[in-house]
Amino acid sequence: MNVKEELLKTLAGGDFISGAALAERLGVSRNAVWKAVKSLESEGYVIESVTAKGYRLAESSNRLSESLILSHLQDRSMCSSVRVFDELGSTNITAKELASAGAPDGTVVAAETQTMGRGRLGRSFASPPGSGLYMSVIVRPELELQLCSMITAAAAVAVAEAVENLSGAETRIKWVNDIYMNGRKICGILTEASLGLEMHSLDYAVIGIGVNVSGSFEGELADIATSVEAECGLRPDRNALCAEIIKGLRKYLPTIGERGFLTEYRRREMLTGSEVTTTVGRETLTGKAVGIDDDANLIVELPDGTQRHISSGEANRTRKK
Ligand code: BTN
Repeated sequence: MNVKEELLKTLAGGDFISGAALAERLGVSRNAVWKAVKSLESEGYVIESVTAKGYRLAESSNRLSESLILSHLQDRSMCSSVRVFDELGSTNITAKELASAGAPDGTVVAAETQTMGRGRLGRSFASPPGSGLYMSVIVRPELELQLCSMITAAAAVAVAEAVENLSGAETRIKWVNDIYMNGRKICGILTEASLGLEMHSLDYAVIGIGVNVSGSFEGELADIATSVEAECGLRPDRNALCAEIIKGLRKYLPTIGERGFLTEYRRREMLTGSEVTTTVGRETLTGKAVGIDDDANLIVELPDGTQRHISSGEANRTRKK
């Protein structure tokens, strides 16, 4: 970490800290601290400076920052680069463009807001500025094609664990990859893959993650969506959360082959045990969700006792009439 990144991380702690204490902590001169403060200000960070108290990062600096995300990653090999944008149509679209142009495994794209945030099954994903974390990660795992469908389930565990680590609150996973807190959705994941020329291997996958960090929802959405802060009263720092998710992906994606993520997935999965309705192609199935199989498919037991292993789509608890 260079002086500027280390300073930014220290100032983001929320408390005032004197120039002398900063110089000592960072192992540089007070003049070097002052220069780094000026350099951060020129990048748009708002740094409060109060006589006899020192410096701190202003609350208005609550913004996504490449330096702050990297400062939370002790092991820099965890991601090859982070690109933060004020506004994008969709981080997934930009990440796919970068991946097609050769961007390496571990490239992260994040945006303060998305004008065309995309959800699963052709839906849109509301992406207002300041209150959410919208990020996409390019991965190029060496995986047999039939294992690739589990990228999204492994990513769900990574995100669930990251949110729990920073909020202290419990999360659940709704098959396949929605993250819930107290019965409402706080995060959605959209994974898009591109096959290699021979079509039997994965060229890359883009894992798009949208976390509602703060704020609340109105209208129809209020019943189904919520934010981490609304549920647990604590607003995780978005830069720290982004870094924690990157760490989680690095931890769980390599375990797909031996299903190392599945215990944690099954422990959090919330449909198991419920009556569910799911659509498979043109067929609508109603039955009891009885578990998650070793390929992360949802096992649904139909009224005639037969079991179906559902590999994609969406399932919801059946509404009582
Ligand atoms: C869903 O809940 O249906 C999935 C939502 C995925 C949203 C994220 S936000 C970052 C990335 N960019 C997008 O356009 N979508 C994903």
